[in-house]
Amino acid sequence: MCGIVGYIGNENGVSKVLEGLSRLEYRGYDSAGISYKENSDLKVVKKEGKLTNLESLVSEIKANAVVGHTRWATHGEVNDINAHPHGNDLFSVVHNGIIENAFELKKELKEQGEVFHSQTDSEVFLVLLTKNFKAEKNIKSAVLKTFSQVTGNSSFVILPRDEDNIYAIKRSAPLVCGKNDSGDQLFASSDPYALIGFVENIFFPGEEILCFLSKENKRVEFFDIEGNPSENYQSDKSRKDLKVETKEGFDHFMLKEIYEQPKLINNIAKIYETEYQELKNIKLEDIETINIIGCGTAWHAGLCMRNMFETELKKKVNVELASEFRYRKPYLTNKDMGLFISQSGETADTIACTELCKELGLKLGSILNVKDSTLNRLCDENMMIHAGQEIGVASTKAFTMQVIVGHFLMRLFQGKNPAKEFEKELEVLKNRVQGILDAPELIKKIANSIHSYKGFIFTGRNKYFPIALEGALKLKEIAYVHAEGYAAGELKHGPIALIDEEMVSICLVGPELYEKTLSNIEEIKARKGKILIVGPEEHDNLEELADWFIPLNFEGFEYFSPIYVNVVMQLLSYYIAREKGTDIDKPRNLAKSVTVE
Ligand code: M6R
Repeated sequence: MCGIVGYIGNENGVSKVLEGLSRLEYRGYDSAGISYKENSDLKVVKKEGKLTNLESLVSEIKANAVVGHTRWATHGEVNDINAHPHGNDLFSVVHNGIIENAFELKKELKEQGEVFHSQTDSEVFLVLLTKNFKAEKNIKSAVLKTFSQVTGNSSFVILPRDEDNIYAIKRSAPLVCGKNDSGDQLFASSDPYALIGFVENIFFPGEEILCFLSKENKRVEFFDIEGNPSENYQSDKSRKDLKVETKEGFDHFMLKEIYEQPKLINNIAKIYETEYQELKNIKLEDIETINIIGCGTAWHAGLCMRNMFETELKKKVNVELASEFRYRKPYLTNKDMGLFISQSGETADTIACTELCKELGLKLGSILNVKDSTLNRLCDENMMIHAGQEIGVASTKAFTMQVIVGHFLMRLFQGKNPAKEFEKELEVLKNRVQGILDAPELIKKIANSIHSYKGFIFTGRNKYFPIALEGALKLKEIAYVHAEGYAAGELKHGPIALIDEEMVSICLVGPELYEKTLSNIEEIKARKGKILIVGPEEHDNLEELADWFIPLNFEGFEYFSPIYVNVVMQLLSYYIAREKGTDIDKPRNLAKSVTVE
């Protein structure tokens, strides 16, 4: 979603802000802009479309104080005016999130004679800030007052005309600050990834803590909402060794990330063996119900965990979509656990559910990838998936690692050592996944044959049902084609009406419930549907049933065969998208991290 980078220092901030914004491109955006100080004036340049459109306009500009933004539209269409920064002669403001009371505030401000130029909620902050400043004559107190008047989860970074400082503040939205060792380069950003290589020190401010980037004092200072100095922030020096990701010879980040999976599978048990051998803060005997909560792919990973949690842990398990759970007034008690799955740890709906569960006294656990995320700070027990930075908007390696770490959690709940328990099966998984990746030709060929069909139905039973959902999500995300996932047994309850010669059914068949799944495929064949079967290489008649067949070796799997099947789905989507010529790493309309509702 929106990306923010602000700079104040003694070097050219324009190039640094543009470089930082380019690293955040993967998060998804539709316009970009910067504001900078020139002599004693604030200038704003912003442009709809890719960052390169902006770069061509500002590449010659040099300035020591700059704020920049990539916008993912929420309020108001995609155009130059709605792009950020929003500025006037006194302030430039960039914003990430949603101002929930923007409509009422705008109405009041208009009644008072204030003028608005854009359709955005963000401009309300600018207008209110300017009004408050004119009354208070003090920037810090005007920023704090304005922030306390707006509701909703947001981060704001403000460049004032009259000071050589930058102000930044957030509520349940990502915001970090950075400083190099000498303090002559200060940054604010929505993501520490934007600051790699620029600073040695990263600061994570607490909620509603004002960050004051002071050029004169060469440091970041922190204040609470009353304006008093605050210690409510965390600092981290370990980020300075991180690297900016490259495609390493692959055509897309997504493909690179798919190919990283064997290495990640190989490493995870070793990491857990040395770092994490027991649950420190949550005990199984204290829990009655486990609520697994996430969005999109993370929700699918949760679905992969449900059966085994219920069978092995003998607990009631709900798997919930965060956007639904937060509003349906679920019955919860302090004997329940909320288990939140998220790659980014910043997904707005997932965070809102975590906060809801925290208020109600539930035990909170997470399965997540980004260490310094909001989710990490909210939960009692965090299980890291160690997938590394995931740049492709379509989540691939994170899903694989979420499902594996979910299994680790199950064993930790049982007081067992997951690294030892899963050592052999992880070895099988790694080798089988490597086998698929080493010989993608069949998948490519099938992608070439099926890419122009009108639609795709993914079916699976039991543990392959979540993979049918995930396969369909991946395909629609990156290939922009209609694809739906169904439980195979549900077809005849409605979706079978869609079957004809123009519809491809991608049928996931495991050794489990084999005969029953085959009957469902027969039903599709009887209606002249096209059929791609992904199923066991040892079989009786799958090739006769199928128009296309991808054989897999299911020997040696107890738990992880869905992950193995899903790698085929990842490659299939990727190669279909290539045939379609879509923007695979940054598909249209999508954002990597959905930080607004
Ligand atoms: O960062 P999160 O795991 O919380 O993100 C959740 C979803 O937004 C995410 O999985 C999304 O569905 C991906 N684009 C799927 O490829």
